[in-house]
Parts: sequence; C-alpha cells; structure tokens
Amino acid sequence: MKVLYSAQDIDATVRRLAATVHDDYADAKPLCVCVLKGAVVFMTDFIRAYDDYLEIDFMDVSSYYGGTESTGDVRIDKDLDTSVKGRDVLIVEDIVDTGTTLKALKALFAHRGARSVKIVALLDKPAGRTVDVQADYVGETVPGEFLVGYGLDYKGLYRNLPYVGVLKPEVYK
Ligand code: PRP
Ligand code: MN
Ligand code: MG
Repeated sequence: MKVLYSAQDIDATVRRLAATVHDDYADAKPLCVCVLKGAVVFMTDFIRAYDDYLEIDFMDVSSYYGGTESTGDVRIDKDLDTSVKGRDVLIVEDIVDTGTTLKALKALFAHRGARSVKIVALLDKPAGRTVDVQADYVGETVPGEFLVGYGLDYKGLYRNLPYVGVLKPEVYK
C-alpha cells in the first residue's frame, strides 16, 4: 500500500486542527458529532488533542445514490442522543467527497436549532464534490484517488490502518 500520510503526519495534522478549532471556540463548549463509522478514529484522536471542555455524540447516516449521481438525500440510521438546540455543533468527519453527507447534516442541525454548525474534516477531496459544501477546518486536501486507513474503508476493511494509504485500482476495479 502506498502511504499518503503516515501516523506521524496524521498526528501533527490532528493536533494542528484541534488547536485551531479551540482558538475559534473560545469559551464555547462544542458538541462534537462523529459521523459513523469513518470518523471514529479521527474523532478519538481529535477530542484528546482538544484541550478543553467538549461533549461528544454519534450519528450514522447513509447516502442514497440514484444511478451514478447522488440524489442528495441521506437516511438517518442512528440519530444523536443529544439535543442540538442552542448548541455549537462541530461535525467531525474523516473525508469530504461528494459533500452529500455534510450538506445534509449541516441543514439538519440548523433546522433543529443549533446555534452554530461547523465542520472539521481530516481530509478534503475537492475532485469528488457534486454538491456545494465546504468544511470550516480541513487537515489535508487530497487527490481524487481511493484512500483507505485511519477510519476510511473499502468494503468495511482497512479502517484500522494507522496511516492513510492509496488503494491500488486493481483492488476495486
Ligand atoms: C464516507 C466518509 C464520509 C462520506 C463522504 O462514509 O466516511 O462520511 O463517505 O462522502 P460524501 O462527501 O460523498 O458524502 P460512508 O458513507 O462510506 O460510511 P462510513 O463512514 O461508515 O464508511
Ligand atoms: Mn463516513
Ligand atoms: Mg465508507
């Protein structure tokens, strides 16, 4: 596997993100929403690098794809336990690809009365974007390749790799 970001690279990126986010949140106590399952690994490192009060919760959503294009609809498979009303919600994601997941979650939390909704994404793949959404904090901008590791999967596998690697096209073609 070709390593794109080593465990050490990722550690530095996560610490930088946590410090930057913390600077912006000042006295706010964010509700960090982990988008299952890909963001689990990033979330656990991010919250330990965030040196202040926060709360965490988890959400699982699936995108619907009609043919080759995303319909923009997502289905909630597991909802939050926490009310977002009046909260500063920080969505924690491993990667922004088409943008479908994040656009839907942002709209949902705004609709539910969050005071603010921001996104921290470890990785951003602009080449994949089909809907207009941008993360507020991005660790690394990545090429349009199939990435796995550090939470990112191919058919459920590779999430436990401590690094982010490029999956060989032979594997998925
Ligand atoms: C992946 C990834 C992001 C999402 C990004 O999750 O973890 O959540 O896709 O893609 P998008 O920008 O096109 O919405 P996936 O839906 O594969 O579920 P998983 O996290 O359980 O792997
Ligand atoms: Mn995901
Ligand atoms: Mg996946």
